[in-house]
Amino acid sequence: MAEISDQTQQAIDYSQRIPNNVDLSNDRTLQRALERWQPAFLNWWSETGPADSSALQVYLRTAISVDRDGWANFGYVRMPEYRWGIFLTPRDENRKIHFGDHHGGPAWQDVPGEYRSSLRRIIVTQADTEPASVEQQRLLGATCPSMYDLRNLFQVNVEEGRHLWAMVYLLHRYFGRDGREEAEALLQRRSGSVNNPRILTAFNEKTSNWLAFFMFTFFTDRDGKFQLAALAESSFDPLARTTKFMLTEEAHHMFVGESGVARVLQRTCEVMREHNLTDPAQVRAHGVIDLETLQRFVNFHYSVTLDLFGSEISSNAASYYTGGLKGRYDEAKIDDDHSLARNVYTVPELEKGRIVDQSVPALTALNARLRDDYTHEIQAGVDRWNRIPEKMGIPFRITLPHVGFHRKIGSFAGQFVSTDGRVLSEEEWVRKSTEWLPADEDHEFVCSLMGRVIEPGKFASWIAPPARGVNNMPIEFEYVRFD
Ligand SMILES: [Fe+2]
Ligand SMILES: [Fe+2]
Repeated sequence: MAEISDQTQQAIDYSQRIPNNVDLSNDRTLQRALERWQPAFLNWWSETGPADSSALQVYLRTAISVDRDGWANFGYVRMPEYRWGIFLTPRDENRKIHFGDHHGGPAWQDVPGEYRSSLRRIIVTQADTEPASVEQQRLLGATCPSMYDLRNLFQVNVEEGRHLWAMVYLLHRYFGRDGREEAEALLQRRSGSVNNPRILTAFNEKTSNWLAFFMFTFFTDRDGKFQLAALAESSFDPLARTTKFMLTEEAHHMFVGESGVARVLQRTCEVMREHNLTDPAQVRAHGVIDLETLQRFVNFHYSVTLDLFGSEISSNAASYYTGGLKGRYDEAKIDDDHSLARNVYTVPELEKGRIVDQSVPALTALNARLRDDYTHEIQAGVDRWNRIPEKMGIPFRITLPHVGFHRKIGSFAGQFVSTDGRVLSEEEWVRKSTEWLPADEDHEFVCSLMGRVIEPGKFASWIAPPARGVNNMPIEFEYVRFD
């Protein structure tokens, strides 16, 4: 009997099965933890990952090492067999802490006792978003606008799965029993669940159609980018190295979002030009998404994502910074003393019914600062979108709503701020809100356009084809095999 169980143990070679650069085969404790966690992960994937996808062969990118040739290997994969790997960017032996109270000291290779619970909380909060978005996107495959888009959805899904692996590696490797318990809980919470929801609100919203998916990957995956970038500055070196590698994959998710919305916009503008339309009802009657509805989706996804940055003024953010746990965006490139003891930062606040700029200690305003860096990049993307109607002679421009609009967290929570930054009464705000936010009827319309298009090279009528295919393949390439 002993022999048989030995064989079953050996049947799964985790260091082979899980591509890694963390010397997995020589870490017995970690291996044992993963041997328990991996089957639970696969259960979670089949229960809540992309529906009806396990038999499909998908042309996917898999990271098999961190160097230039290794991190983007393309080939057909059945997703339950995807090799979710564990990769950290290579260690720099001389890396120093470059901000906060420990500035100048060597980066930590282990978790300092005094920061153990803070670091665990930071990692679990980040980790929780990864499986959450997979759950939110579970049913989208049934209404994909093309085979190309279906493949992109699955690519995003498997990589969010890999990001979960990346965070779970840190929990297993550095946080002992607590870490193992957290890793299990990550597979138990469910997006949108009443009893055991995901940690952050935006990750409990529904992603019920492809417009919402593109908006999510543009707005919310970019929040992920900024959070990861702030963690890539961390004094806890394994966290910094893990998140740095995750950022390379995040870029593709944001591309899917930005180009997805651009293609919707493109198609709508083409139809408007061709038939000389301005009235949204007529635009809809031609089977494309009117610009007003696009704007409402932008207002929703942007405002919900701003909440992910937390309260503008936050003592937690201040202590994460002084402790050296979480830096600013591009910390190393900022020219100051990296302690922020005497600096101030401007944040918008509500005062006597008006929104005014307030100077506050910079250390307490780090969430607001990261959010501002985020908005700066988002605005650049919106500007790129706006070149599409501009080129076609259509006067409509997408705009970002005011930072105080439709907020549930921070200074503007519980306030009724219009998209252009006026403080309104609740009654007036509610009356106007159907102009600003997608109503049920908007969702119904968008969902009514969604139908499954899976013939290679064909696209649903509401979206333009992409400029080019994946990995230099033609647009009509068979990105997903159904047999
Ligand atoms: Fe992610
Ligand atoms: Fe992502």
